[in-house]
Formats: sequence, C-alpha cells, structure tokens
Amino acid sequence: MSKYAKDQPAGFKNAIERVAIIGAGGTVGAHIAKSLLETGRHTVTALSRKGSSNKLPEGVLVATIDYDDEATIISALKDQQFLIITMAPTAPRDTHSKVVQAAAKAGIPYVMPNGYGGDIDNVKLGEETLLGPIAKANRDEIERLGMQWVTVCCGFWYDYSLAGGEARFGFDFDKRSLTIYDDGNTKNSTSTLSQVGRAVAKVLSLKELPEDENDKSLTLSTFLNKGVYIKSFVVSQNDMFESVKRVTGTTDADWTITHEDTKKRYEDGLAQVRMGNMAGFGKMLYARGFYPNDCGDHSAKAQNDLLGLPVENLDEATKTGIELVKELQLRVERMAA
Ligand SMILES: NC(=O)c1ccc[n+]([C@@H]2O[C@H](COP(=O)([O-])OP(=O)(O)OC[C@H]3O[C@@H](n4cnc5c(N)ncnc54)[C@H](OP(=O)(O)O)[C@@H]3O)[C@@H](O)[C@H]2O)c1
Repeated sequence: MSKYAKDQPAGFKNAIERVAIIGAGGTVGAHIAKSLLETGRHTVTALSRKGSSNKLPEGVLVATIDYDDEATIISALKDQQFLIITMAPTAPRDTHSKVVQAAAKAGIPYVMPNGYGGDIDNVKLGEETLLGPIAKANRDEIERLGMQWVTVCCGFWYDYSLAGGEARFGFDFDKRSLTIYDDGNTKNSTSTLSQVGRAVAKVLSLKELPEDENDKSLTLSTFLNKGVYIKSFVVSQNDMFESVKRVTGTTDADWTITHEDTKKRYEDGLAQVRMGNMAGFGKMLYARGFYPNDCGDHSAKAQNDLLGLPVENLDEATKTGIELVKELQLRVERMAA
C-alpha cells in the first residue's frame, strides 16, 4: 500500500474501523476491547473458541472459531482491518501461528501479536527470560507473510503482578507476606491493565496513513513494525510495599518479610522450568526483571505524552490490584504458568 491517503483508491477511509481480537474475555484483552469500544470509532469482533467460558465484554460482536479448522478463522477475519492477539500463554505453541497464517489468507494488513512485555530491543533480557525469542518469531512470521505488526512494550502489568502471587511482585495477600528481592530498591517500569487498553485504543484511533507528504501528524503507520512504549509507574518493591500499607491500613508489623537474592531466585526458577515445572517461570521472569543495574526499566522510551495517556495514581492502582487477588486465584492453571 502507498504511504499516503491521497494515493488510495476512491472510497478509502483513513481510519481503522473494524478490529478483530482474540482473548477479548481475557486479562488484558478485556481492557483493550473495552477501551476500543469506548472510543465509539471501532466495531470490535471477538474471535472466541466454541464452548469458551470466558465472558466477553458487552458490545463486542462474537465469531466462534475452531483452531483446528482454519476456514473458521479465515471467515471470522474476512474484511477486518486490524487483528489483536491476546492469547493465553498456556495455549498450545502452534496456535499463534495458526491465527497469523489465517490472517494472511483473510487479507488482514496489520497484526498486534502476543507480547505485552518489556522492551523488544533489549535482546539480552528477552533471551534470559525466554520470552524474547518467542515474541520475535511471532513478529517475523507476520512480516514473512506480508503483513505488518505493532507490539506493545508495557513492562510488567502493575495491578496483575501485584495480585498474582508471591512468584510475581513477591506479595501474598492471604498470608500477608512479602519476599523482597535483594534490597527491594530496584525500579521497574510497569503499566496497569487499563493503561495498556487505553494505549492500544489510542494507536488504533489514529489516522491509518498521512494525508500527503506535508502531513506530519501521528498516524498508525508511524508505529508499524515497531514497539509502542508505555508506562504507568516506575516503582521498586519497596515503593509498592509503602503503597500497599497505605491502601490496606497496615504497618510493617502486620507483614512477614523475607529477602532473596535475585540471581539465586532467577537460577532456581530457571532450573524448575528446565525440568518441566512451569511454576518456576514466574519466579525466573520477575527475578530477572529486578536485577540491579540490568532491570526491565524502559521508561526513558515511554510514549505516554505522544499518545496523550493519563498520569495515574499509584494507590488507586494498588487498590485495583488487591481487588484482583481473588479473581486471579480462581484461574489456577493460568496463574501457575
Ligand atoms: N506484562 C505482563 O505482566 C504480562 C502478564 C501476563 C501475560 N502477559 C502477556 O499478555 C498476553 C495475553 O495474556 P493474558 O493473560 O491476557 O491471557 P489470558 O487471559 O490467560 O487468555 C486470553 C485468551 O486466550 C484464550 N485461550 C485460553 N486458553 C486457550 C487455549 N488453550 N487455546 C487457545 N486459546 C486459549 C481465551 O480466549 P477464548 O476463551 O475467548 O477463546 C482467553 O480469553 C500474552 O502474550 C502474555 O504473555 C503479559
């Protein structure tokens, strides 16, 4: 496709109006779908498995698909302009590829692949957390099939990671215990689930292309085959703990604190994963993210102002996280991975 709207065929509308999403009833997908609908600019179609028990947000259209029947995926994606994939990491390894191949056959130009993690340009961190090469292979496949991608680099999800058990940000709210990695002062860039949703809706609400060579405004095409970098808070575990104490009205005396060395924790988690015990995955991933002087802070690249994202309140997000604890505990298989 030519780079400018002025060169497009008659009837071209310079906007992304029809968006398909996988995982609209999932952790981050629900926030993305909700934010897209709130703009009033998009028709959102959720591709969902037959018999899925995930509740889809009100207002989305539903296309039932079967990952073992490609025709169902192609048919659901026909005439869509943008495909967002937020698929459970527990899905069989080839499922992402099945979707991407069907998208190419359906004529989809743009795909947001699974990812929603740290800085894609931090190759070493990606390799050491095992996630980088998988995400890179997903993006490469999209390009190989003649489509373009946009990926979100948001860091750890603040509310989800706070709520998601000891393996993540170290908090166990039932036991009122906290494992602090090293001295607890290493800061990470994190994003709330709602900030991720808003960021995706902002990017998809931009013009698709510049009108002509004089149009310097921000467009979707600005982000093609690139990361969209966002953040909510750049925080350490100690910062989180202060916020948790303010929100819960507790003091140090109410909490059992232990300290662990990040390097040891990373190696223990990795050893578990290598032996097929995926319970070690979160431990490995988060411990590596908090390595002192080599952590997952990409906040210097954040494009919040460019996208007009709001400044959020840490204690509000902590409250949201604590409210998520029970819900995540019900998702035993997903949270164990
Ligand atoms: N930055 C972070 O802190 C962070 C944390 C967690 C995850 N992530 C990333 O975010 C992305 C999405 O994760 P998520 O937690 O939002 O996903 P999720 O809520 O666990 O699942 C999303 C959707 O995947 C579909 N699904 C579930 N099991 C499946 C299976 N066996 N086969 C095919 N589809 C299946 C379901 O859709 P239907 O039932 O409608 O078919 C579900 O709603 C992943 O790339 C993940 O790595 C990032």
